[in-house]
Amino acid sequence: MDRIVVDKELNLLSSEDYVFVGRKSNVFRKYREKAGMYVGKVAEIPENSDYFGKKVLVDSISPHAIFICGMRGSGKSYTLGVIAEEIALKNDAVGVIVIDPMGIFWSMKQKNKVESEKFTLEEWGLTPQGIKSVKVFIPKGQTKEAPEETWDKIFTIRPSELTVEDWCLTFDVDRFDVMGILLDRTIECLKNGYVTKKGKFVEGKAKDYSVEDMIHVIENEKSILSHEKGFKSATRRALIARLKGAKNWGIFDEKGTELKDLSKRSQISVIDISFLEDNVRALVVGTLARNILNTRKIVSRQEASGVLSSMIGGIPVTWLLIDEAHILVPGGGRKTAASDALLEYVRQGRQPGCSIVLATQQPSAVDSRILSQTDILFCHKLVYGDDINAVVRRMPSEMPRMFKNREFIQNLPIGMAIIGDKQEETSRSFLVAIRPRISQHEGRERQPIFEIDPDVMKENVKNIICEKYKKENKDALEKIVEMVNEDYNLNFRLEDILQELREEKRIEDKEEIMAGIETKKQAIEEFTEIVEIPKEKEIKPKVEPKLKELNFRKALVIYGDVDREKIYEIANKNRKKRLFKEGEKLDTCHKLYYPIFRVLFDYFPEKGDYVNLSCLIDGLTGEILRKNKKIGRTRGLRDLIPLKEDEMNFMIYLIKRENVTQIEIKNEMKLNTNKIKSLLSSTMQKGLVKIDKKGKFEEIKPLGDYKILWNPKDKKINFDYVVEEEFLDVDTIIRETITENEISKALKIWGKAKIWKIERLYYPYWIVYYSGEKPRVEVFDGVYGQKDEYTKNMIRHRI
Ligand SMILES: Nc1ncnc2c1ncn2[C@@H]1O[C@H](COP(=O)(O)OP(=O)(O)O)[C@@H](O)[C@H]1O
Ligand SMILES: [Mg+2]
Repeated sequence: MDRIVVDKELNLLSSEDYVFVGRKSNVFRKYREKAGMYVGKVAEIPENSDYFGKKVLVDSISPHAIFICGMRGSGKSYTLGVIAEEIALKNDAVGVIVIDPMGIFWSMKQKNKVESEKFTLEEWGLTPQGIKSVKVFIPKGQTKEAPEETWDKIFTIRPSELTVEDWCLTFDVDRFDVMGILLDRTIECLKNGYVTKKGKFVEGKAKDYSVEDMIHVIENEKSILSHEKGFKSATRRALIARLKGAKNWGIFDEKGTELKDLSKRSQISVIDISFLEDNVRALVVGTLARNILNTRKIVSRQEASGVLSSMIGGIPVTWLLIDEAHILVPGGGRKTAASDALLEYVRQGRQPGCSIVLATQQPSAVDSRILSQTDILFCHKLVYGDDINAVVRRMPSEMPRMFKNREFIQNLPIGMAIIGDKQEETSRSFLVAIRPRISQHEGRERQPIFEIDPDVMKENVKNIICEKYKKENKDALEKIVEMVNEDYNLNFRLEDILQELREEKRIEDKEEIMAGIETKKQAIEEFTEIVEIPKEKEIKPKVEPKLKELNFRKALVIYGDVDREKIYEIANKNRKKRLFKEGEKLDTCHKLYYPIFRVLFDYFPEKGDYVNLSCLIDGLTGEILRKNKKIGRTRGLRDLIPLKEDEMNFMIYLIKRENVTQIEIKNEMKLNTNKIKSLLSSTMQKGLVKIDKKGKFEEIKPLGDYKILWNPKDKKINFDYVVEEEFLDVDTIIRETITENEISKALKIWGKAKIWKIERLYYPYWIVYYSGEKPRVEVFDGVYGQKDEYTKNMIRHRI
């Protein structure tokens, strides 16, 4: 084992030969090391203690949300397997369900046969052993394809377990599209009974309906077929085609696998979803997670009141282990049929005893709301900056400076991880060497599917890189090249590709892209030498923790990584300096949260399909947020919000058209002279329009300087941002002044946009006070760190 010295104190809940992660001290007092999962050994030498080499035990008595991340091949699935083994060996009171998207966990039944690991196992004092309690479930439709020795039981779900939203997300249709509505109606008919076009009444089935039954309703139900109130035949056909396709997923059955067969004491149920498409995988996991949570909520209530009937039909405390989780719960506002269910599972699962272990190679691509619930985190080797940042941000206990260094995480050896938890007894995160597996880890590598011609492939890669070169940073480009290399077993290097592109004059030599990251790093390093950062304590007045807690509110916040350290750096750079006199001093910085509405809407363009879009609206001005290089706002939209519909249309026309005569308005807007007169007089009264005399003609134009984005699909509106839930000090929140009604009016500028959800978010800003001859205040954006005059003007008197 490597010996890494970490010059920072480490204190853990520990005994003579082990340390604990995730165990509460009262549980420890009562149970000592019972049901502690032996995942590995402390692999660092801390400054103060003799922890090195001690066993690391992870608690399995309290419920946990454990997160394992690392690049491909770093040992995530292996660690997940160690956890499964440990529960099987140490805790027979819980049920374990492993979601296996790679089809690798069936081999847990066999003992570890890897030659090279035999010796290590011996060193660790472990004996190879198969886990007999493993049962592998595969979807009903895959029994022919999967080799017999790799599975035990069939897995199915009842169509009745799916909500309309589940169907819609899996079919990728909008919930409020006609097809969504037809689905809703179909399910309702099946539940409550319905009348066929021939007048026959068919009784409702509470749970046991099949996909076939659903199709039957669409083909025969009276009101669905009705000419006036029914659905078009194209819609019906389209839905039937999808339902028929769904039958081929091979997962449906009227009876469905009972949850109590999946979550069973002393059984490790592996659900092999490797045969399914991503959307169907999400559906399977979503329904399962929902089911476990709901069942456990009922059972735990009964357990608490001592009702024994819950033992029958109920399920035990359950651990859900999910590999490759980013596919199921992606971030960036993308939603799958697993998103809501898993989010609820992690948020509400503790109390009813639902634990979860998620593994992913791309922590930055996982829904941050799920990540934020993590209480134990394993971080294996990672290479990309945004992934590393995501982990550094989320580590539940403090990370020593040394670990935060990108290169440190980039160079973690396979099977080594930084581990951290939320327990008070744990002073910081530390290094753990994961133990070898006692059962067989299959870890099947994906084989290249085709024999490919490297030259052809290279040309493809060059095309992609050429296209992305301007838009993406080096990390992102590296990622592309690495993905290709791994998937096709090739050996390209980004530098070579770029060189060739340069030689072919396909890209300009934009060194700054490559250098950007370096200079940034340098800047930070330089800064740390010259500027003293006031300690948190010195800035914040001390408040009794209890009192303070009362003043906190849970809120959705747009994530920004401008932390206190960074803002001091930025604020310092913005200090006014003087040649001979003393310059300005930086007084204090504090954070404020600016109200922003996130509006989710469906847009029906004149041409083309409808799309599901979102935008952010300033909660004080009603202007739409836009992003070019920095965040800005539309201009003048707030003037249009109070207008009546015809006035608004008139204004929109004038803004788009500029300088028109009455005659042109008459022809182009198809309005009569009286109507134009009345519109002109009302908008002029409101100070929105003016008339310029140009010789014989009168030119009509908007008075203000409007900057409005006319296409709701514009990239400047649909930019990326991460939203996470946080507890905010109420005193730092600025209250919005725009109402929901005003928001829906603002969106009228886009014509056919139908709002289906409005959420309140908060945007972080740093308020910086400078003292000196003339004290001043500046406002900096908490996401991009840029000076923001607009916001400064808006909140001037609010701070
Ligand atoms: N703790 C460990 N001890 C020994 N070998 C390991 C360990 N972790 C991973 N490995 C090796 O690395 C390989 C890849 O690990 P795996 O967990 O499958 O990667 P991934 O992170 O992609 O899920 C395994 O097949 C195994 O050979
Ligand atoms: Mg894996």
